[in-house]
Amino acid sequence: MASDKCSSFLLAAAAVSVFVLASAPAAHSWSKEGHMLTCRIAQDLLEPAAAHAVRNLLPEEADGDLSALCVWPDQVRHWYKYRWTSPLHFIDTPDQACSFVYSRDCHGPDGAEDMCVAGAIANFTSQLMHYNHGSADRKYNMTEALLFLSHFMGDVHQPMHVGFTSDQGGNTINLRWFRHKSNLHHVWDREMILTAISEFYGKDMDAFQKDLVQNFTTGTRSDDVSSWGECEDLLSCSTKYATESINLACKWAYNDVREGETLSDDYFGSRLPIVTRRIAQGGVRLAMFLNRLFGEHDHDVAPPA
Ligand SMILES: *[C@@H]1O[C@H](CO)[C@@H](O)[C@H](O)[C@H]1NC(C)=O
Ligand SMILES: *[C@@H]1O[C@H](CO)[C@@H](O)[C@H](O)[C@H]1NC(C)=O
Ligand SMILES: *[C@@H]1O[C@H](CO)[C@@H](O)[C@H](O)[C@H]1NC(C)=O
Ligand SMILES: [Zn+2]
Repeated sequence: MASDKCSSFLLAAAAVSVFVLASAPAAHSWSKEGHMLTCRIAQDLLEPAAAHAVRNLLPEEADGDLSALCVWPDQVRHWYKYRWTSPLHFIDTPDQACSFVYSRDCHGPDGAEDMCVAGAIANFTSQLMHYNHGSADRKYNMTEALLFLSHFMGDVHQPMHVGFTSDQGGNTINLRWFRHKSNLHHVWDREMILTAISEFYGKDMDAFQKDLVQNFTTGTRSDDVSSWGECEDLLSCSTKYATESINLACKWAYNDVREGETLSDDYFGSRLPIVTRRIAQGGVRLAMFLNRLFGEHDHDVAPPA
């Protein structure tokens, strides 16, 4: 595996910190950059009550920065204690079906119900519903619930995290990304983001992030942002997000791609807007979840009976 050097980007007002990342042979994992972006966008949109709750729940070493820990679930998924979380990062749907049916598709490899990214979002959302209701349910670690929810909200928006079963969401579709070897899953997890940052933003992730936020707040692509936050029932909206992802995977990711081919300018130019839109959408929706979960006026999110 190639090791990519890259800087990580933090949102507009925040300081820029630079990391050197060695990329692991990542299966089913929206890149570190994608997760950080989604979480920075979300944290910036928090209302005071939610911002306060998030700061309370974050461990001290995060220094109040949610994005610093948004990749934590990817880091622990192979540890013995957290091995059960491994199926929670994605959904395998039937080949060519181009649909997500919760009862059919949301299960672990052994068939355990709800063990997929849509079920995980509902699970950790329902755990966090106890936070505002006096003594948080002692059974659950609220810090972990926050980190899992924040991470999985990113994953469910990566179209190839809701992909076909036989190719493991594109992981087994080997191809070239410009000159180097890659696979279709990784192109969507990371390659397009890194190529955009290096080609258009002088490797400055902060500049990329500013442009992205600007485009979706006041810029050319702000038109549909207000509808992103619509969600009647926090416990079922992840199904909608997963459905959007498999639809995008079919229309834009798998479409016209063959094993062994080289993807370059045409694919990049036409798909990058999808990637940036999904990152922004994940951020807006994570903020909506946290604002409702931790808001002072939380009567619309009663915990399940
Ligand atoms: C929900 O979280 C608990 C631990 O916090 C875990 O035991 C359970 O398997 C999780 N279920 C899903 C669907 O994520
Ligand atoms: C909650 O989880 C975090 C992260 O794993 C851990 O550092 C912390 O000690 C846990 N808190 C409790 C009360 O177990
Ligand atoms: C922002 O919008 C401009 C103009 O449409 C576009 O060229 C650019 O790629 C967009 N940047 C991001 C990060 O979405
Ligand atoms: Zn993940």
